[in-house]
Amino acid sequence: MTTATARSNPKLLPVSVPWLKKVYGGGGIVSTSVTLLGGPPGAGKTTLLLQIAEALATRAAHHRVLFLSNEQRGSDVYALARRIGAHRVEVAEARMTTGKLAAQIEGFAPDALVLDTITATARELPETFEYLHARARGHGAPVFLGAFMTKDGDVAGPRGLQLGADVLMTITPEGTPDVRVLQVWKNRYASVPPDVRLRMTERGLVAARALRLINNRKG
Ligand SMILES: Nc1ncnc2c1ncn2[C@@H]1O[C@H](COP(=O)(O)OP(=O)(O)OP(=O)(O)O)[C@@H](O)[C@H]1O
Ligand SMILES: [Mg+2]
Repeated sequence: MTTATARSNPKLLPVSVPWLKKVYGGGGIVSTSVTLLGGPPGAGKTTLLLQIAEALATRAAHHRVLFLSNEQRGSDVYALARRIGAHRVEVAEARMTTGKLAAQIEGFAPDALVLDTITATARELPETFEYLHARARGHGAPVFLGAFMTKDGDVAGPRGLQLGADVLMTITPEGTPDVRVLQVWKNRYASVPPDVRLRMTERGLVAARALRLINNRKG
């Protein structure tokens, strides 16, 4: 009973990536929080989740961040992580179903956790979400979930997924093929920041500030 009701005191985990800091309202990522990231296929969800994971992994030497994939082969995710310089995050293929996933996670005992994607857990989604949410609250180890987005811009999955998440954001392509818009729809702990424009590069997502200047000059 104590484990089910366990609550860790929320702490702010600062991140050093300026645009990521902005996305989280300037203060950092709340240790007990669950972030849900939606986006259409190929938008850059996996890349962004790896970059968030790496930003947390580089906070402290002993900080262990686990990236679980049930979408792609572990070796493909590992190759992507290497390409974008995410060297500290630990990558593995997620075990299915909730019980096995929980055993895998507790065996590793990460200080932060990514599941890419929660959508792929399909039938057990509410149960899996419940476990991950309780783990974030109990351990003070933030959870980040990738999710598909439907054509209407809705994050796929039951409504409870969006309601239960503390931070809801989407990444979508905009205009030029390499430009992405990162939009925060809600954040239980901070005010919603303005949209952040990013550019998808060989080394991952970077702030698209230079692009804005060119646009401004034109206008
Ligand atoms: N070498 C590269 N350099 C720059 N951009 C690349 C490179 N390889 C892939 N991309 C871009 O990255 C995108 C895929 O990124 P990512 O895998 O993070 O997206 P995703 O949203 O997780 O996709 P999925 O829905 O398939 O899981 C591709 O659409 C492509 O535009
Ligand atoms: Mg992906």
